[in-house]
This record gives sequence, C-alpha cells and structure tokens, in this order.
Amino acid sequence: MILVLLGPPGSGKGTQAKRLIDEKHWPQLSTGDMLRSAISQKSALGLEAKGYMDKGALVPDSVVIGLIAERTKQADCANGFILDGFPRTIPQAEALDQMLAGQARRVDRAVLFEIVDSELVSRLSGRRTCVQCGAMYHIVTAKPKADGVCDKCGSSLTQRDDDKIEVIQKRLAVYHQQTAPLTEYYRKAEKLKVLDASLPADEVNRALHQALK
Ligand code: AP5
Repeated sequence: MILVLLGPPGSGKGTQAKRLIDEKHWPQLSTGDMLRSAISQKSALGLEAKGYMDKGALVPDSVVIGLIAERTKQADCANGFILDGFPRTIPQAEALDQMLAGQARRVDRAVLFEIVDSELVSRLSGRRTCVQCGAMYHIVTAKPKADGVCDKCGSSLTQRDDDKIEVIQKRLAVYHQQTAPLTEYYRKAEKLKVLDASLPADEVNRALHQALK
C-alpha cells in the first residue's frame, strides 16, 4: 500500500501515521521530520530549509522531491509506505506519480484529514514532541505523565519553532493556497477518501482503517 495522508497542519496526520507503523508495519515518510533532522544536523540542506520553515513557507519542490526519491528506494519501502506531508503541491504530486511509474508502482489511496482551521491553532500551539524518540503529546488533550518528560523514553519534550501563533496562521494560509488543490487531484484519480479529523484520535484511527479497505 502506498498511502498519502493529506490535511492541514495539526489535523493529526503524524499521530495517525505513527499508529499505522505499529498496526501495519509500513514506514512513515515525513518530509517535515526529514527536514527537521537535516536542521538538527546543521547540514547545507537543513540551513536552506530552516529559512522557509521558520516563516511557515514551503521548502522548494526540487528539495523535497529529491528527499522522497532517495527514501523510497530504500529496502523498507519495498512493500509500501505512508507519505505524511508529501506531496504538498501539484508539481510534487506529479513528480511522485512519475517516480512511482518508473518503479512500476502507484499511489493506492489518498486520505484527507478534514477539519476546520479554528480547531488547529490550539492543537498546534499545545503540541509537544520528544527530542529523542519523536513521540507526540499535547499539553491538554494528550498530556505526558510528568510535565515535559516523554512517557516512552524519559527524554525532554520540546515545542516546534513553527508552532508559534503567527507561523501557524501562515502555514494554514499556505495549506489553503498550495496544498488544498491536491484534494481535487486525487479525487479525479479516484483515490480520495475523506475522514472527519475533528474526532478523538481513536475514532480517527478507526475511520482511517475503514478508508484503507
Ligand atoms: P510538517 O512537519 O509536515 O508539518 P504539517 O504538515 O504542518 O503538519 P503537522 O506536523 O504540524 O501536523 P499533523 O497533521 O502531523 O498533526 P499531528 O499529528 O502532529 O511540515 C513542517 C514544515 O516543513 C512545512 O511548513 C514546510 O515548511 C516544510 N515541509 C514539509 N514537507 C514539505 C513539502 N512536501 N513541501 C514543501 N515543504 C515541506 O497533531 C498535532 C497536535 O494535535 C498534536 O499535539 C496531537 O497530539 C494533537 N492531535 C492529533 N490528533 C488529534 C485528535 N484526533 N484530537 C485531538 N488532538 C489531536
């Protein structure tokens, strides 16, 4: 299964992708995580990407297409994978289709996480992530047992630089301008399923499994 998770920032794509890793054993390919890892390694790519990400803008298509092209060639992607945060523009979706066609593969399903913007600001501003294992929390709805400490590995929790209110607003605007047209792209290709991402995470997970049938 090659699965695309579509939806605005904070709609729960990463949360559900991590659950699918445990449930289906498909790797999660998150361009956001790849770029943040490049930033923490202070690589040339990371330095370039940081300038865009801190402003809430998209990193150039050529950069993220290159990342995904390399990652999908790795052995763990042979039986499928979850794309979380890619594609984000029509040129990225077209490049993905071309890339997969060259490997005699294709996107099987795109699932849209539908939710209104007003719910996303509190989700994003309250999000905390483990610096070590990447586990995700929310200061109100998914609290760790001890404040600021990861339940899974005991490392500290941090807030993403782009989860500040002014950057969140910019990311939402970019989503509506540049990423939302992908809904129509996958609807026309008859690959689109839509779920209500405002439901509690367990219910979203059930809807996601339904959408994969
Ligand atoms: P990226 O890292 O992809 O961020 P995003 O798409 O903005 O998505 P988020 O990670 O913010 O949200 P999510 O939907 O995964 O929600 P989550 O599960 O974390 O991209 C960051 C930046 O990198 C971009 O702005 C861009 O600059 C660059 N970039 C990345 N990919 C790119 C590309 N392809 N092209 C160009 N540039 C690219 O959940 C959020 C919070 O809500 C959490 O606290 C969680 O606990 C909580 N939550 C989750 N589900 C629920 C629920 N059902 N009910 C209540 N709370 C919930």
